Amino acid sequence: MAQTQNTKGSAYTYVDHKFDVVIVGAGGAGLRATLGMAEQGLKTACITKVFPTRSHTVAAQGGIAASLQNMGADSWQWHLYDTVKGSDWLGDVDAMEYMVRQAPAAVYELEHYGVPFSRTEEGKIYQRPFGGHMMNYGDGPPVQRTCAAADRTGHAILHTLYGQSLKNHAQFFIEYFALDLIMDEDGTCTGVVAWNLDDGTIHRFSAKMVVLATGGYGRAYFSATSAHTCTGDGGGMAARAGLPLQDMEFVQFHPTGIYSAGCLITEGARGEGGYLVNSEGERFMERYAPSAKDLASRDVVSRCMTLEIREGRGVGKNKDHIFLHLDHLDPAVLHERLPGISESAKIFAGVDVTKEPIPVLPTVHYNMGGVPTNHWGEALNPTAKEPDRVAPGLMAVGEAGCASVHGANRLGSNSLIDLVVFGRAAAIRAGQVIDRNSAVPSANEASVEKIMDRFDRLRHANGGTPTAVLREKMQRAMQEDAAVFRTQESLENGCKRITELWGELKDLNVTDRSMIWNSDLVETLELENLMANAIVTVYGAEARKESRGAHAREDFSARDDKTWRKHTLARLSPDGKVKLTYRPVHTETTLPLAEGGIDPKKIAPKARVY
Ligand code: FUM
Repeated sequence: MAQTQNTKGSAYTYVDHKFDVVIVGAGGAGLRATLGMAEQGLKTACITKVFPTRSHTVAAQGGIAASLQNMGADSWQWHLYDTVKGSDWLGDVDAMEYMVRQAPAAVYELEHYGVPFSRTEEGKIYQRPFGGHMMNYGDGPPVQRTCAAADRTGHAILHTLYGQSLKNHAQFFIEYFALDLIMDEDGTCTGVVAWNLDDGTIHRFSAKMVVLATGGYGRAYFSATSAHTCTGDGGGMAARAGLPLQDMEFVQFHPTGIYSAGCLITEGARGEGGYLVNSEGERFMERYAPSAKDLASRDVVSRCMTLEIREGRGVGKNKDHIFLHLDHLDPAVLHERLPGISESAKIFAGVDVTKEPIPVLPTVHYNMGGVPTNHWGEALNPTAKEPDRVAPGLMAVGEAGCASVHGANRLGSNSLIDLVVFGRAAAIRAGQVIDRNSAVPSANEASVEKIMDRFDRLRHANGGTPTAVLREKMQRAMQEDAAVFRTQESLENGCKRITELWGELKDLNVTDRSMIWNSDLVETLELENLMANAIVTVYGAEARKESRGAHAREDFSARDDKTWRKHTLARLSPDGKVKLTYRPVHTETTLPLAEGGIDPKKIAPKARVY
């Protein structure tokens, strides 16, 4: 135990911990990393602000992509092609290659850990079609690649990984809110400070490796499929530690959020035969994507839906949404394969899916950007000379990281496979680089003091703006100005609005000063994290003068590979200034063609049509 006195005069008592590895976040990536570390005998802690099985991965519905070939022909090469094309040629090809080659083994490993996958008649893992996953290097038809546990795949994976982590003696610190990374003067991460919400104590976790697995920042937007806990805490912590965030302008809208409620209706619904119609009863996706139709990549489908609504062919009283039909499907199939979304449609839209269409609208769903990493999950702090320079002591996995396997647009069901492949990769790498015999570094006092000063400033914030008011202003600005379609005007407006709102952080008002279950303060800490993610998103988007994947500019409608096939790096200073630099995309695979690798010509950039 130690004490510190900070600027406001509050005294905080620390509880000190030493671990080989500390993982922040207990979603799919965090738990897979935790399990992998613990299995190797590393002294492992997992800190999480929610109970592990309440992490947002629990809401992942449709499935996990892997070329198992249980339901027809497939190959990792086809999966790689689809992922490269889906990313609109912005993803790092070596990382994508790693993911798709590891995917089948990672899924069988989950099966052996106990994930209750749905089954075929022969007892194999059931696989369904998903958007953008095709046979024959994109020529089609859609391939059945997405392994599913009904429409509750994330739920099944999360519960299994939590049980396995406990079995392997990982230590969990549940309902602890991570405040910030402890950084040494030389830029090495040596731990994290966290606040135990339940008893109000402050904990200094020193570690040889910290892994950020904190998920995305969907809640920077007004309408998102993400849980309210998806507040980009890892991105906020990395930015405050002086590290860059990569490709943050690429924000995915899922085509089928329930109109008004925003809850997810899985793409698996279209995989099982569902289709979208406009007010004229037309299956309009046949017009836009003659080959893949409703199973085109989700950025494409979201744009087509938005165009239909803009052109007056939306459904409903205000012609502002689209219908998803499942009512032609066999009720037994709906019951067996889509029970979760049948229930969600009833609860949130009052719709019986066996009889009526579901009202849907593109809704923010996923962040392609995050903390830049290599394919081992090691965080990067690039320079112009060393674009792949590793930031010592820090890793990032899952939606918090950017490996970058999704580039400008992620394919559905490539998220769950990303979580488990890279959670596992981080554990393998940590096992290689951590010296088990060395001492765990002590916490840098200056860094801890800075962290606690910020905490104390927010705890005693007594300005005129309630956190919820500022958060809603930010969410509306992001929703309006960094939407499915973007223009110079909307993005400049977004930069101006978010910069002004950044200034308003100084005027926050926190009414509860207590240390135990102070949700007012939790939401304020989350708002600062959201704002850090939001501001780099709009600045990165304003600067990128092209359309690529989820970044669709009406004024620069073409992809411009010559100028823009590069990753954005955004660094944020405490006064809200954003500095943008760029780093090259990795365009080469690692396995030579002669040894069974993919023909590089197959994945060379070309027009992206479905
Ligand atoms: O539609 C879905 O089930 C979502 C899957 C994903 O985002 O990967």
